[in-house]
Amino acid sequence: MIIRALLILVQSSFTFAAESDFLENDIRVKPDLDALGALGDAGWYCIRATLLAANYELPKSVLALPGAILNKSGVILACSASLHWEDGRVATFHTSFLANLTMDFIAVGTKGTLTLHDLVIPFEEKEAAYTAATESNFAELFTGWVPLPSNHTVVTDFPQDARMVNEFSRLVQCIKNENAKPEMKWPTMSRKTQLITDAVKTSIERGFQPVEIAS
Ligand SMILES: *[C@@H]1O[C@H](CO)[C@@H](O)[C@H](O)[C@H]1NC(C)=O
Ligand SMILES: *[C@@H]1O[C@H](CO)[C@@H](O)[C@H](O)[C@H]1NC(C)=O
Ligand SMILES: *[C@@H]1O[C@H](CO)[C@@H](O)[C@H](O)[C@H]1NC(C)=O
Repeated sequence: MIIRALLILVQSSFTFAAESDFLENDIRVKPDLDALGALGDAGWYCIRATLLAANYELPKSVLALPGAILNKSGVILACSASLHWEDGRVATFHTSFLANLTMDFIAVGTKGTLTLHDLVIPFEEKEAAYTAATESNFAELFTGWVPLPSNHTVVTDFPQDARMVNEFSRLVQCIKNENAKPEMKWPTMSRKTQLITDAVKTSIERGFQPVEIAS
């Protein structure tokens, strides 16, 4: 029997403990400004990373988990949600303005796992680290793991923010100088991320009912 390596589960979180001034006055907690609250400000990154791990294939449905915390004007201060794909893949994430700093990400497959802890802002500007476990097993007498998860570091000359501006300028330049058509990769990724973000909000508004995603 051939067992293919499959992605099964993604878990992620992006949380930070906002100060009381932020919780009262920031545009991210104003229903008539950025009304998506923690979901739009922080959960968005979890959704984007999850979709990346799923090759940008959209889930079949999205379900906000009970226990979301809303501000008295209805803005989301903390929430969790699960995403469900037709083939059984599942992702969960948690986002919050009320917990200390986390940016965790773990992708679990049949043959291994990938884990990192600085999903949005790397611990350091010039490098980012992750661990990968490939076909790890229990050590004899269950006293450890073999092989151990391996540590990897990706080094970059430019921080991600600079690279983003670089890429944006490059795309603009292509259109100005070479009359190229706008590239659809980034808008497609953004659109899909927003679609899932909105579905989580809809699920909360419907009292934590599943929301189907039209493909
Ligand atoms: C984490 O908790 C510490 C101690 O309460 C606080 O000073 C810090 O601002 C918090 N940081 C974030 C980003 O949540
Ligand atoms: C909720 O949002 C309103 C309107 O922005 C703000 O005035 C209020 O302080 C917020 N309350 C909490 C508990 O965060
Ligand atoms: C990876 O790094 C961690 C933390 O520094 C260390 O405990 C672990 O032994 C390292 N793993 C390997 C395979 O070197």
